[in-house]
Amino acid sequence: MTWLSFHRVRDLPWAALAGAVALLIAGVFAAFYEEQLYQTQRAQAALGEAQTLAASVSAALSFGDRNAAEEYVRPMLVNPGIAAAGIYKKDGSLLTGLARDGGRALSPRLSSLTAMTNARELVVPVVQSGTALGWVYLRLSPEPRATRLSRYAVVVLLAFMAIFVIVGLGNAQGRLARQSESLSAANARLQSEIAERERVEEELRQSQKMEALGQLSGGIAHDLNNHLMIVKGNLHLLKKKLSLPDGDRHLQGADEGIRRAAALTQRVLGFSRKQSLSPVETDLNELVIGMRDLIRSSLRENIETEPHLDARSKVLVDRNQMENIILNIVVNARDALPAGGRVAISTRDVTLDDGGASRGFALLEIADTGVGMSPEVQAKAFDPFFTTKPVGQGTGLGLSTAYGFVTQSGGQMRIRSAPEEGTTISIYLPALVSEETSMGDRNG
Ligand SMILES: Nc1ncnc2c1ncn2[C@@H]1O[C@H](COP(=O)(O)OP(=O)(O)OP(=O)(O)O)[C@@H](O)[C@H]1O
Ligand SMILES: [Mg+2]
Repeated sequence: MTWLSFHRVRDLPWAALAGAVALLIAGVFAAFYEEQLYQTQRAQAALGEAQTLAASVSAALSFGDRNAAEEYVRPMLVNPGIAAAGIYKKDGSLLTGLARDGGRALSPRLSSLTAMTNARELVVPVVQSGTALGWVYLRLSPEPRATRLSRYAVVVLLAFMAIFVIVGLGNAQGRLARQSESLSAANARLQSEIAERERVEEELRQSQKMEALGQLSGGIAHDLNNHLMIVKGNLHLLKKKLSLPDGDRHLQGADEGIRRAAALTQRVLGFSRKQSLSPVETDLNELVIGMRDLIRSSLRENIETEPHLDARSKVLVDRNQMENIILNIVVNARDALPAGGRVAISTRDVTLDDGGASRGFALLEIADTGVGMSPEVQAKAFDPFFTTKPVGQGTGLGLSTAYGFVTQSGGQMRIRSAPEEGTTISIYLPALVSEETSMGDRNG
């Protein structure tokens, strides 16, 4: 069965194998049974002939007439199933007998003086009126080869059938396995395409939402800013008119309020992308190093920072905006670390599948060991104005601004977080293809 590879044998349905084996066993049994039946029938027929001979030869035997006895023996050999026939006297010595040409001669003495029958020879007593006169001996011809062969042919045929069944099933099974493999591959492709489309649709919805919100809030912020400037100008005119001192408490309070409101409108404008970006070739590592003091002063004493700056590739971003975003994420991390902990800032080069083609990105990750986010918070964290912080402490614009900026810069932004397990914010920015980076190989 060399054409039946191990792999396919293993894949065969066990029921089919068992069926094939059962078929073989049934064949062997059938052959055996047929053999038994044939032997019994032959012995029966021979016994009949021996008894007929015994009945007809009794007179010749009682007279010891060898020639007469031989006349009865001769016709026995007409039957091709009989190889030799003999008449023995009461004491077991041979009176007369004939053996077929080429066959073994009859033995001059019967080995035992009892009636017996087996597959090859038989002995029956010659009895007249209750008196034993002698014995009739018959030797049967060996079964013709053709008969025996035909019996084994059945077994061989069944064996072949079993093998064909197994091979056929094996092939069918193999084909089925290959088909189901390619089906499940196609299914997996379909699933991933569906997932990809859902992701893209979700992204589109998100960006449309941001777009609408951006337009709305940008318009409001812009107008609000104008009104704030009017309030501020009039406040100063009023101060002059009333000749108030510079340190007037109420005036300072009003000024501070205007400053905060103006800062808020700037952030809203930033989110709504009304601020124009001026992207330049930037080394993220240098950018992070340049912000070292700023980052340090935004964190508390009980928070460690760990930079791992391994990126080699440069990116094209608006540096001011990028710094704002990093600062915002660092401040988020600080807020998530009320009891202190660690903020790791790392950069490295990665390759991402970008719509089928793989592309190089510089990855900036800011990971904290803080309180983390529940799945619900994580799902909304990029939404504009979503905040879990008390009124006055968060506008909920930090991450949404970052998200808008990063996607606008051709990058991607992801959150990995779980309650009590910290948060990692990943920013992927398309790597600028320069000669230095395309030569690859770094030892970061
Ligand atoms: N590192 C972090 N760990 C845990 N939760 C975070 C983290 N960063 C953001 N969040 C959650 O996401 C929300 C939105 O963050 P985002 O920066 O957009 O707004 P904010 O920090 O609340 O306000 P803003 O940044 O505008 O002052 C946060 O209120 C907080 O619930
Ligand atoms: Mg924030």
